[in-house]
Amino acid sequence: MCGIVGYIGDSDSVPVIIDGLKRLEYRGYDSAGIAVIENDEIRRIRGTGKIAQLELAIKASPIKGSVGIGHTRWATHGKPSEENAHPHTSCNDDIVLVHNGIIENYVELKNQLVKSNHKFDSETDTEVIVHTVEKNFKGDLLEAVFCTIDEIVGAYAVGVISKLDKTRMIAARKDAPLIVGVGESENYIASDIPAILPYTKKVIYLEDGDVADIRKNSVTVYNKRKIVNRMVHIVRWDPIQAEKGGYKHFMLKEIFEQPQAVQDTFRGRIYPEQSRLSFDEELKIPEGLVKSIQKIYIVACGTSYHAGLVGKFLFENYAKIPCEVDIASEFRYRNPILNSKTMVMAITQSGETADTLASLRLAKSSGSYTLVISNVVGSTASRESDSTLYTHCGPEVGVASTKAFIGQLTALYLLTLDWAIKKNSVSKESVKNMIFSLWDVPMKINEVLKGSKKILEIAKKFFHSKDFLYLGRNFNYPIALEGALKLKEISYIHAEGYPAGEMKHGPIALIDENMPVVVIATKSSVYEKILSNIEEVKARLGVVISLANVGERIIEQKSDFVITVPDVDEFISPLVNVVPLQLFAYYCAILRGNDVDQPRNLAKSVTVE
Ligand code: M6R
Repeated sequence: MCGIVGYIGDSDSVPVIIDGLKRLEYRGYDSAGIAVIENDEIRRIRGTGKIAQLELAIKASPIKGSVGIGHTRWATHGKPSEENAHPHTSCNDDIVLVHNGIIENYVELKNQLVKSNHKFDSETDTEVIVHTVEKNFKGDLLEAVFCTIDEIVGAYAVGVISKLDKTRMIAARKDAPLIVGVGESENYIASDIPAILPYTKKVIYLEDGDVADIRKNSVTVYNKRKIVNRMVHIVRWDPIQAEKGGYKHFMLKEIFEQPQAVQDTFRGRIYPEQSRLSFDEELKIPEGLVKSIQKIYIVACGTSYHAGLVGKFLFENYAKIPCEVDIASEFRYRNPILNSKTMVMAITQSGETADTLASLRLAKSSGSYTLVISNVVGSTASRESDSTLYTHCGPEVGVASTKAFIGQLTALYLLTLDWAIKKNSVSKESVKNMIFSLWDVPMKINEVLKGSKKILEIAKKFFHSKDFLYLGRNFNYPIALEGALKLKEISYIHAEGYPAGEMKHGPIALIDENMPVVVIATKSSVYEKILSNIEEVKARLGVVISLANVGERIIEQKSDFVITVPDVDEFISPLVNVVPLQLFAYYCAILRGNDVDQPRNLAKSVTVE
């Protein structure tokens, strides 16, 4: 995530940029900065915290200039700090740049640049871009950016200005959003529409590979160095709608951002063509540890705990490491057997959940190796653990976790495959197939999202129900739990998730014609067993809503309603199957008139015991 705003014109850019950044704070808010060209010099102010703090810093030391760029950060590489905040400058402070995205080959580029005496001040991947622009700069900023984008690999939206070519602002994008706002004798760049909506309604959406040469009276867009025609669109959104990207709620927006969340969590870490994963440098797990570890304890709360339950299936099936999963508030008080041969893995979106932190501390004091999967760079959990694998989902605003869960699962799959390779516990051929299946997940999730209208129609039939049962088996048992949790937290309908085989040991007594039962019945090694469970429900007049693969006739005949999902390998099915359940919960909740982004009694981050 991260938010970018830039201005070029006759007015002072500072108030426009600050105002725009404030409206982009939903994209990230751990640090912020601004740079302008003032009297032929670059003036830059940066700091940690929200835009309000940046504003105070500018008040204390005013800056002014009619060309400027600003940034609000959601850290991916390097903790939130002043040094890591954007804009970043070249060695001579001639060029200054803001970036949103992830540069995959930054280590390689940084090594080359350091050899030719470039001095780095931050831990970010971004800084290599500005030094590469500097290396390529021969008086023409546009040409320098053209050369730079040929060298960088990854996702980027960038805004660049230079005091040596000061009548233009250059913008470039690939796999990260960036728009150009077209004004009267002034132009803008922004990550998203709300930033510039009060100033102009005319917008150019840059496309992948586009580089825009923006001057106060003109915008020229290039792709592969050739001028291309990009339409100017008129935006009719109101500012609040714009913040949510046109979606009614953040939760819906975040559900639809899941293909991107998976892709961003993959980025620079998985290479399907070479059957290779690469994040050793990031994780810094001591050599040999993966082979010597005798047991993994996963600790987490809520949705993150459900991700952990999927992790257990993965680690035991493929990396062949015994794994236990604990709810953090139980783990911390139950005297688990911990020593230097155990690894404790905490899964926490926020990295601030009190019970999860207490479990981590207990693990550390017992000599276990600690690893965190978190979405927030520099969070307490990541600071206190031996190592962290970040999910790159961007800020999750909705209280009900959706894209963060998908990010956590993605991180668990990455670890599993990496450790299976290191331990040689899965054949090379299988690893290759698994990597390819995983690579296709964003596309498969997109297919599910396209079917959202049908899910709404089913929700319309059930949103008055008082109770729900969710059944799943094996890899999809945790998904049944997560589906039930989503429904509970936002629709306030009572729902229970159960392993389907356990139904006849109690919950079956609840089933009658008023009890809808959601059954995860996608193709799997336990498919026949699930069919029997559906029969058991139907025999007691229960109403079955099945989640099944496209074209599954038998399931269609046996169920009252079917939500279809694309056919995928069983091992990655949790990543796909959870999505329709999130949508189902979302639609039930809005049909009941609930506040889905801030459900009653809940908080996004539970920092007390
Ligand atoms: O930030 P964390 O992942 O540690 O948060 C854990 C739970 O509080 C969280 O997953 C909660 O269950 C969500 N609201 C569920 O949607």
